[in-house]
Amino acid sequence: MQGVTVVNHPLIQHKLTLMRRKDTSTKQFRELLNEIGMLICYEITRELPTELVEIETPLTKTMAPMIAGKKLVFAPILRAGTAFLDGMLNLVPSARVCHIGLYRDPKTLKSVEYYFKAPEDIADRLVIVMDPMLATGNSSVAAVDKLKGRGVKNLRLMCLLAAPAGLEHFIRSHPDVPVWTAAVDDHLNDHGYIVPGLGDAGDRMFGTK
Ligand code: URA
Repeated sequence: MQGVTVVNHPLIQHKLTLMRRKDTSTKQFRELLNEIGMLICYEITRELPTELVEIETPLTKTMAPMIAGKKLVFAPILRAGTAFLDGMLNLVPSARVCHIGLYRDPKTLKSVEYYFKAPEDIADRLVIVMDPMLATGNSSVAAVDKLKGRGVKNLRLMCLLAAPAGLEHFIRSHPDVPVWTAAVDDHLNDHGYIVPGLGDAGDRMFGTK
């Protein structure tokens, strides 16, 4: 699919399989999501532009590359998106964070916003939206709608699992926003769950079911 990168690195695939297992504990599930977040972040930032800056080593002055431009923004969709956050901030400690609170209405499966807190100059930055489960795609589409409404032009979407229908919905709505995911699963069931999937990511992360 155009604009979609499936990150099929063996470490990620192995960890994802552990997460899918229904007897994986809450603690393990959260740790794995955190680790996978770090690994996908490594891929998603691979093409970031760098610029040469002058530094002084103990031996001499030299020009060496550093990431160019303003600090990144990580934008987790609450709740499950926050599981990616610690790992990503370990890699990019200077990144800013934009929390986006959306919940899925269980009847309509539509997204309802309840919280949004962004850096003031978010429009000038690259924003990576984090939504582990791209199911219907409604939350990710709504999050990107909101960010574009705030003037953001440079966006990427990071997922763990995607359903084909959710991916199609997202790409149709935001063809300019590239997507990274660890896997594209088979289908969505009647309750909006990804199959085979891993269940409700938020509940499994926080032990709420
Ligand atoms: N959200 C989840 O947590 N799991 C799914 O399978 C779909 C949406």
